[in-house]
Amino acid sequence: MANIYVTRKIPEGGLNMLREKYGEFEMNPDDRVLSKEELLEKVKGRDAVLCLLTDPIDREVLEAAGPQCKIFSNYAVGYNNVDVQSAGELGIMVSNTPGVLTDATADHAAALLFAAARRIVESDIYARAGKFKGWGPLHFLGQDITGKTLGIVGAGRIGGAFARKMARGFDMKILYTNRGRNEELEQEIGAELVELPKLLAESDFVSVHCPMMDETHHLIGEKEFGMMKPSCVFINTARGPIVDEAALASALKNGKIFAAGLDVYEEEPKIHPDLLGLDNVVLAPHTASATFWTRTRMAEMAAQNLIDALEGRMPEYCVNKEFLKSR
Ligand code: GLV
Ligand code: GLV
Repeated sequence: MANIYVTRKIPEGGLNMLREKYGEFEMNPDDRVLSKEELLEKVKGRDAVLCLLTDPIDREVLEAAGPQCKIFSNYAVGYNNVDVQSAGELGIMVSNTPGVLTDATADHAAALLFAAARRIVESDIYARAGKFKGWGPLHFLGQDITGKTLGIVGAGRIGGAFARKMARGFDMKILYTNRGRNEELEQEIGAELVELPKLLAESDFVSVHCPMMDETHHLIGEKEFGMMKPSCVFINTARGPIVDEAALASALKNGKIFAAGLDVYEEEPKIHPDLLGLDNVVLAPHTASATFWTRTRMAEMAAQNLIDALEGRMPEYCVNKEFLKSR
């Protein structure tokens, strides 16, 4: 049996690649997140681990794996759940699955934008409850989308893809913030790089796409919601802690902004109780990459990264090269 461990069942495509290479291997048989104790126990002495964004891979877990461990292959584009610096110092590679979930995630941001702006979920609940007694001139008024301004906080792969879709399909004007200029995006759709306060003040829609890092923790909080238009629709498909969730709930409740569409939460799977009670927020359970094709491609990429590391190659999507010391 190969000395690898898979922390939770992923789509068969990836598991088959591992079976073909290594025969049998151990995998968490239950469709649930392992406890810290189980994780520490299960990774012990492994040559490679395939983990998920719901597994906190801190230094303790990495040390429990041991010095022979080559890789923690993370089944996600985001890898804020892994202490990549400690991994590098311990000689363990960490990899992710970028690219294949770009369109699915950008599509999901669009779905949330439309649902929140046009009050789709709220209307559905109303209709199902038998409250629809006839067309009304003032029923469920929402926000226009076509031709409006979309502010992209973090115009990388996903933010860029979302901006293109909305500029091309809905004639939206794009403002963006980013660590550097995205010249391609500027040339293709006339996107404009601005400072965050200008983006917040001028956008009709604000959508978050930056990675979760120390610098982006609570990047959007009370002050930032206060700078948005009262008609603004706010979207987050990136990571929950980038947004101060209590401040968001209060902004929605007090009409500081019009609505929100969320896929991620500050303390997943917990959702702020105030959000649960509000009509003007659409809540998705972290499903932005959840399409059949995307999840299969992610599984294949995570398997390939793991196989590359075990065969002595640098995986194409290793994310901690700068911290890896030679062993
Ligand atoms: C999903 O949140 C991912 O990072 O892949
Ligand atoms: C995030 O990882 C992105 O690719 O934009």
